[in-house]
Amino acid sequence: MKTYDYPNSRALFDRAAQVIPSGIYGHLGPAEGCFIPVSAYPFYIDHAQGAYFWDVDGNRFIDYMCAYGPIVLGYNHPAVDRAAREQLEKVNCGVLPGEIMVKLAEKLVSMIHSADWAFFAKNGGDVTNLAMLAARAHTRRKKIIKFAGGYHGVAQWMQFVGNAGIIDEDVSNIITLPFNDAEAVSAAFKRYPGQIAGIIATPYHHPAMADNALPLPGFWTEVRKLCTQEGAVLIVDDVRAGFRLDLHGSDHHYGFEADLICYCKALGNGYNISALCGKNTLKEAVSSVFYTGSYWLSAMPMAAALATLEELEKVDGAKLMTSLGKQLTQGLEEAAQEYGFHLLVTGEPAMWNMRLTDDDSGVLHQQWVSECVRRGVFFTSHHNLFINTALTQEDIKYTLDVARDAFCALKATRERSKA
Ligand SMILES: Cc1ncc(COP(=O)(O)O)c(C=O)c1O
Repeated sequence: MKTYDYPNSRALFDRAAQVIPSGIYGHLGPAEGCFIPVSAYPFYIDHAQGAYFWDVDGNRFIDYMCAYGPIVLGYNHPAVDRAAREQLEKVNCGVLPGEIMVKLAEKLVSMIHSADWAFFAKNGGDVTNLAMLAARAHTRRKKIIKFAGGYHGVAQWMQFVGNAGIIDEDVSNIITLPFNDAEAVSAAFKRYPGQIAGIIATPYHHPAMADNALPLPGFWTEVRKLCTQEGAVLIVDDVRAGFRLDLHGSDHHYGFEADLICYCKALGNGYNISALCGKNTLKEAVSSVFYTGSYWLSAMPMAAALATLEELEKVDGAKLMTSLGKQLTQGLEEAAQEYGFHLLVTGEPAMWNMRLTDDDSGVLHQQWVSECVRRGVFFTSHHNLFINTALTQEDIKYTLDVARDAFCALKATRERSKA
């Protein structure tokens, strides 16, 4: 199979490094995105369609990162883009909100089992932060429990001492516990009686740089029970998993009810919108928080979000992505076995995580992933991957062919280095 080179991406990055901090900062950059080895990756996209994107060197990729989650129906989905365009022609960023805001809130309330209302913003971090503020406002308590490795955004309280610019006081009221450990949650409530405002957690554990973990039987029931008993707010951060596991909410998927639930990535199929949904008991607390942004009430992303939700319902999106994910991951595990490797798949099929277990360092996995990327299958090594509904049987077949070719190259390199 032909492998890709990236001269235009590299030239553009050199220009960027002169005028942009880090060249590309944040999760799409080679550093924080962990593009290892960097030489295997393109840095700049030119255009995209359906399940594919093309880089600035004209290379085509099947995109299994889906812009790190937002692209849930495939790029340039016609119904979503049409709704956005029609709204844009009427008004986008207006001096007043439009009816579309009410329609979208009504839609979310009708779909999400634990939602009585919806509040809109732009990024996932906007709404996880609002959830924390609302929990504190509602309970008049300071402390928040989160789980080690869980990512909720970049506000100070979600970061770590040692990160540039973060001070002890930013995180002094954050209690970090191991995921799936209901006893540790119970012990924390005993240690800090009447002081814990809430618990924030992803519906299952999908940290970067580690195997993912589904909730153990009974974990969520126990955490829900403890929160109710202790008067603390249960916040589900569904920013990444939202609409990929269950259109009624990932809490519903695992058989419990959150008090607050945070959405972002898949909500607008790439249009910039996030939402905090929640129970009536928290509505007043959310209203009381001072919280807004210049573009949070813009109408175009709301129209795109409404069309995205309608389309997800039409194609039974969560079920479809789960079944495509199962098929793909099973094929990848079998391909690894054919070449004498072992691929460990964890997490949920629509958002799986994978790791070759044949060395402890992770380098072998990085090498295999880089061989896939150079052949047009865009994986990253240390983050969960994403399925979108535009993925076809042909794409899955192509991906498995690439995976086999990459394993073959990996085996040859391994044998050469042993000789
Ligand atoms: C689970 C989770 N919560 C919150 C966030 C923060 O979202 P954003 O980057 O849109 O602020 C992310 C982003 O990756 C996420 O995956």
